[in-house]
Amino acid sequence: MPFIRRVLQLSAAVAGGVYLGFSLGDSPSQPDLLLPTIVPSGPPAPVPASRPPTYRSKPSIANDYILQAAEGYDYYPTSAQWRLDKRRKNFMTLSESHIALANALPTPWTEKLDIAQDLVHINGQLLGRIADHGLAHYNLSREQNVDQFEGNQDVIEEIMGHIQRDWTPVGQKERDEVFVPIIDALTTALPQGGRVMVPGAGLGRIAHEIAEKGYQVDANEYEYTSILASLFLQDPTTTPYPNAHTLYPYIIDWAHQQKASSPFAPVTFPDVIPSQSIYWIPGDFLTEVTGEGVYDAVVTLFFIDTSENFFDYLQKMYRILKPGGIWINLGPLKWAHWAKVTPSAAEALSLAELVGFEVDRSSHRTIETGYATRPEFLIRYVYSTQFWQARKPL
Ligand SMILES: C[S@@+](CC[C@H](N)C(=O)[O-])C[C@H]1O[C@@H](n2cnc3c(N)ncnc32)[C@H](O)[C@@H]1O
Repeated sequence: MPFIRRVLQLSAAVAGGVYLGFSLGDSPSQPDLLLPTIVPSGPPAPVPASRPPTYRSKPSIANDYILQAAEGYDYYPTSAQWRLDKRRKNFMTLSESHIALANALPTPWTEKLDIAQDLVHINGQLLGRIADHGLAHYNLSREQNVDQFEGNQDVIEEIMGHIQRDWTPVGQKERDEVFVPIIDALTTALPQGGRVMVPGAGLGRIAHEIAEKGYQVDANEYEYTSILASLFLQDPTTTPYPNAHTLYPYIIDWAHQQKASSPFAPVTFPDVIPSQSIYWIPGDFLTEVTGEGVYDAVVTLFFIDTSENFFDYLQKMYRILKPGGIWINLGPLKWAHWAKVTPSAAEALSLAELVGFEVDRSSHRTIETGYATRPEFLIRYVYSTQFWQARKPL
């Protein structure tokens, strides 16, 4: 049976197992170039009868953002297909003899294009389910997208990489590099437990790890593309057991690849079911996270450099912390172009002191790490992240 037809037939089975798909002919000694394999996921764990609602209701202005995020997920197949079509068209402008050479590879070039096209379809099905689920959760429908918001495809591609970093074994090394120092600092400072705020929590893995240590965690996030994915992962009806889902995040970008199969690497997730005890606060950290002196700790991971006004973040964290509460930070100070002040690490620490924090200068160190590094990618980005902890005086 031709491989492509097999892919289509198997796509329906993906939800129940991992479609590993290929031996993509990286070795010329492989005559059967394309051997799809289904690796069954373990038996589904029993679904808990009910889980407590863990999301605060959305801010009233959020509907447009939710519709826009859903549209981003919905639009993925169209946008990905468009890019693949362009690649195919480009390839087809080669001379016949050059096309024949490319098709003489162990995995013929046109077949690679066909595989990518089928995997776009498989990705699209899952991303569409995330959109469906998110819209239903917020009681919205696509018809309400009257302004025809366009979803941002860069964000969708990023989300697929972030899923790998947060919720797969592939991301374990990157997680350990940054989570371990944070958890160590937290458990040393607050051995008795306490209430922790994680602003800009993304897909929630650091919040999950802190919750698993017994802390009461409030996670805040304002990007609804992330929130819809987190909702989907937390709902036992959509994610009944670990490794329930598979995506192929890298099928569009074929540059910097080690092997023919590299762009087709599957990402199966979540490796564990996200903690149900986290209380999620959707919306802007500056406006939606409220209260004074309510948290024992604030943990900022790859977050403070998202600020437009770093002083606002500093003062907000100071305000919501209890006297004696700690702020643990780890991140690269990759200030956005919209930032009004872009301090160096040394300046950020001085500013924290000027706002009132007691900075533990001895805790300040550099931790090298990647973020959502692609497997077999021929480029590696390394962040020299800055770790520190500070305290609101008693
Ligand atoms: C680089 S990501 C880091 C995600 C997560 N902390 C981690 O390291 O896995 C920064 C996150 O902060 C979120 N964010 C940025 N500004 C925010 C704000 N004002 N309020 C809440 N979340 C925000 C972004 O949407 C994004 O998910």
